[in-house]
Amino acid sequence: MVFEEEESHWHPRRRCSCNSCSTKHYIGLGPMWSSPLAIISAAVVAICMAVSVVLLPGGDAGRLEPAMDRTFYDQIRGVLYNEEKSPTDSAPSPPVSLPLSSQTLPNINRPVEVEGWPNSPIPRLGQVSGVAINTVGQPVIFHRGSRVWDEKSFNETYHYQHVEEGPILSSTIVTLSPETGEVLSSWGAGFFYMPHGITVDHQGNVWVTDVALHQVFKFSPGALRPSLTFGKRFENGKGYRTLCQPTSVAIASGGDIFIADGYCNSRVLKYSSRGELLRVFPHANEFLSLQVPHSLALLEERDLICIADREDMRVVCRGAELSEKGKSQAPLTIQEPDLGRVYAITNHGDLIYAVNGPTSPLIPVRGFTINPMTESIVDHWKLSKDVLNQVPHDIAVSEDGLSLYVASIFPNRIAKYTMASVVPLKSE
Ligand SMILES: *[C@@H]1O[C@H](CO)[C@@H](O)[C@H](O)[C@H]1NC(C)=O
Repeated sequence: MVFEEEESHWHPRRRCSCNSCSTKHYIGLGPMWSSPLAIISAAVVAICMAVSVVLLPGGDAGRLEPAMDRTFYDQIRGVLYNEEKSPTDSAPSPPVSLPLSSQTLPNINRPVEVEGWPNSPIPRLGQVSGVAINTVGQPVIFHRGSRVWDEKSFNETYHYQHVEEGPILSSTIVTLSPETGEVLSSWGAGFFYMPHGITVDHQGNVWVTDVALHQVFKFSPGALRPSLTFGKRFENGKGYRTLCQPTSVAIASGGDIFIADGYCNSRVLKYSSRGELLRVFPHANEFLSLQVPHSLALLEERDLICIADREDMRVVCRGAELSEKGKSQAPLTIQEPDLGRVYAITNHGDLIYAVNGPTSPLIPVRGFTINPMTESIVDHWKLSKDVLNQVPHDIAVSEDGLSLYVASIFPNRIAKYTMASVVPLKSE
C-alpha cells in the first residue's frame, strides 16, 4: 500500500507530511488512487512539496541544502534588520483547541513565562543552543559566545570552515540560579567550536555535542577535560566511529547513552555506559526514516525514546530497548498540521513539552504539550510574547515538573516558565 497503514508500520495513523512522503514512505502507486483519502493525501504532499521548495531553510535553523540556504539566510537577514514583517507578526494565534481525548482531564499544567527572569543580563551570551537542568534543579545553558552558525560555517560536505579561528574563548557552559537567573558558575572556554546540545545525567555528568567538531563529550562533575569522547575531531562520516553534526544526548538512569546523529546521518545511536555501541535506530529492517533528529527525550518508565524528527515535522517515539518491553513497543507518531518543524522536546513523566521553530508563515512558533501515549497535542502555549521571529532551540523541565526553560538562538536568550493550572476548554 502507499501510505503506511498497518499497525506494525511506523505511522499507525496513516498520515503523510511535508518532506516525508517524497522519500521512503511511498511503496507503490497502484492502490493509491483508489481511495479519496489517498487522493487528498497526495494533494497535501504536492502542496507541501511546493511549499518546502520556498520555505525550507538551511543550517542550524534549517537543513543544509545549499540551494535553499541562501533563501533562508536572506529571510533571516530580513528578520535581523527588520526589513520585512512576517505575516505571523500581526496574525492572532489560533485559539487553543483541545482534542476530544483531553477534554475529560480535570486540568493541565500550562507553562507561563516568568517576567523579569533572568533579573540581569548574562555576560557575553551568544546563541543559546542548549539548556539542561542539573541534579540540584539549576538550569545549565550551552551557548556559542561570539560565534554564529551561518551559511559560511560549513561546506557541502558538512566540514567546518573556520577551524583556524580556534575554539570559542569565552565560557560556553553557564549555571544559573533558578530563582534569579544570576550566573552561579561557568566553564567550557577554549574547547568548543559550535555548541549544540547539553544534557546533565542523574550523576551530574555533563554531556555536550559540538556540530563543528562532530563529537559528543562526557564531562564528569567538575572536570575540565572529557572522560568519554564519541566521534572524530572535525571528521564526519556515516560509520560507527564517526558522527556528523550530532545534536542531542539522552542518558538512562542505568547509564545507557542515546546520541541523535544528527543533521547529516539522521540516526540515533545507543551505547553502553562505557561507550560500546549497542544499537542503531532505525534498525536495518525498520520502517522508519528520520530527517534531522534534533532533540531526544527518554520516557524510561515506558521504555520509549522520543525523537524530535525536525524536518519530518513530527515527534516519533519508539522502543528504547532498555528491557524486553521496548522491543515489543509499538511505535508512536505525533504529527499535526500546526506542529511544524519540531526543534526540541523534553519530558516530565509521560508528558512531552515541545517547541517548534520557523516553518511557514502559517505555523506560529510556540510551545506544545503532547501526550505521546494518545499521540495527541493536548495544549498550545505562548513563547516570549514580546519577541518577534524568535528561534527557540532547546527546552528543559525540572524534575518536579514546575519549572521549564526555553533556550533560543534568536534572540540570544534563556527564558523561564512556571506552570499554571488551566482547565481545558469544554465543548458546548
Ligand atoms: C569541505 O571542506 C573540507 C575541509 O575544509 C575539505 O576537505 C573538503 O574537500 C570540502 N568539500 C568540498 C565539497 O568542498
